Amino acid sequence: MPTDGPVGIHDLTFRTAGLVLPHTELARHTGACVTKYHQGIGQQAMSIPATDEDIVTMAAEAAAALMERHGADRLRTLLFATETGIDQSKAAGVYVHQLLGLGPHMRVVELKQACYGATAALQLATALVRRDPGQHVLVLASDVARYDLDSPGEATQGAAAAAMLIAADPALVTIHPTSGLYTHDVMDFWRPNYRATALVDGKKSLAAYLQALRGAWRDYRHRGGLDVAQLHTVCYHQPFTRMAHKAHAQLLQEAEVPATAAEIARALAPTTSYNELVGNSYTASLYLALAALLDSDQQLDGRSVGFFSYGSGSVAEFFSGTVRTGYRHLLRTEEHLEAVQRRYPIDYDTYRRLHRMHRLPRQELPVNGAQHDLPHGVSGRYRLAGFHEHQRIYECVSPPPLFPQP
Ligand code: CAA
Repeated sequence: MPTDGPVGIHDLTFRTAGLVLPHTELARHTGACVTKYHQGIGQQAMSIPATDEDIVTMAAEAAAALMERHGADRLRTLLFATETGIDQSKAAGVYVHQLLGLGPHMRVVELKQACYGATAALQLATALVRRDPGQHVLVLASDVARYDLDSPGEATQGAAAAAMLIAADPALVTIHPTSGLYTHDVMDFWRPNYRATALVDGKKSLAAYLQALRGAWRDYRHRGGLDVAQLHTVCYHQPFTRMAHKAHAQLLQEAEVPATAAEIARALAPTTSYNELVGNSYTASLYLALAALLDSDQQLDGRSVGFFSYGSGSVAEFFSGTVRTGYRHLLRTEEHLEAVQRRYPIDYDTYRRLHRMHRLPRQELPVNGAQHDLPHGVSGRYRLAGFHEHQRIYECVSPPPLFPQP
């Protein structure tokens, strides 16, 4: 029977890549003042994938943590949101499905609209659960943000995967049915199929983000959404964490609520602690902001939170949710800190070498389908082992698959 009861995020976690380039190291070589990075854009470091990591390995690591806690018996759907697609046809989620050893009676599909894709997945998932409240939906958001070397966007790169389990009577956050939408065709940021790095008009993208925020917020309010005063705080998509400050200033101005820069910084600080260390993770960024908020030492039981999701191009959504009483019992703060702290620091030359390997066509990879093994780069559970006959070969390093198939 369909339900009118609460539906939302039952569990949430994230994982990031195994390497890290601190902005102090970047600044030493680009000649930029490090305060431009630390204060101007609000970033401390960026996660860099090793050669055998990608959106699938990061997402599988995050998803495995959820499956270990909840099992997979109620799982019927896996939605994978990304703008770092690895195949023009096959959904990246099918690889995750295989790596985790999930059963065959599932639908798995990939969604794309720049950084907005995961929010579309979340909303579709809540609708599926409303129709069948016995069902769980696994939403994965995984991206590697890559800009050209020596470009203005370079300092905002990053990588991460968020995994969410959507369920009825959720333990973490109920998603409210009201949301505000805004779509506008704008070329602020995009990546043609023949490019490994995004093209971006930086200043235009900032303006497009803020225009979309205004549009989505007005639609949200028009449809009966909460007033700013009813929201404890707002989690924003954070291409760099200072963008959230610009966005919140804009929102408060729209709502005619006066606030100083210091007040805005205080309100958003609990939402930015992971993204400033990880960098832009596109689809996952908003949900790393939520993870940071939940993991902060604030008392959030029963509080309402706003969410702003922006995907260049552009599609945006403003929605809200209520943090469930008792949410603290299910937090994964230790795991999240471990994911960030275990990254191996690399120097500038190593970073540039890894970056060049992703130029298209990838020079070091055979395009004739020949076997190509990738070196072991990180100590995660899953890795991209190589390529064979034009296929990506993933492997589970240890322990073995969660749900081995007979
Ligand atoms: N100390 C402190 N602050 C400093 C400083 C210093 N020494 N030097 C500069 N700053 C400040 C500047 O004043 C500026 O702050 P304000 O914006 O508040 O004025 C900030 O640091 C950045 O400086 P610049 O504007 O000079 O930086 P830039 O032009 O080199 O690059 C950028 C900034 C355009 C955002 C660039 O990083 C970029 O292109 N990023 C990628 C695009 C992006 O992230 N767009 C966001 C919206 S689109 C989106 O959200 C989708 C997505 O995920 C991509």
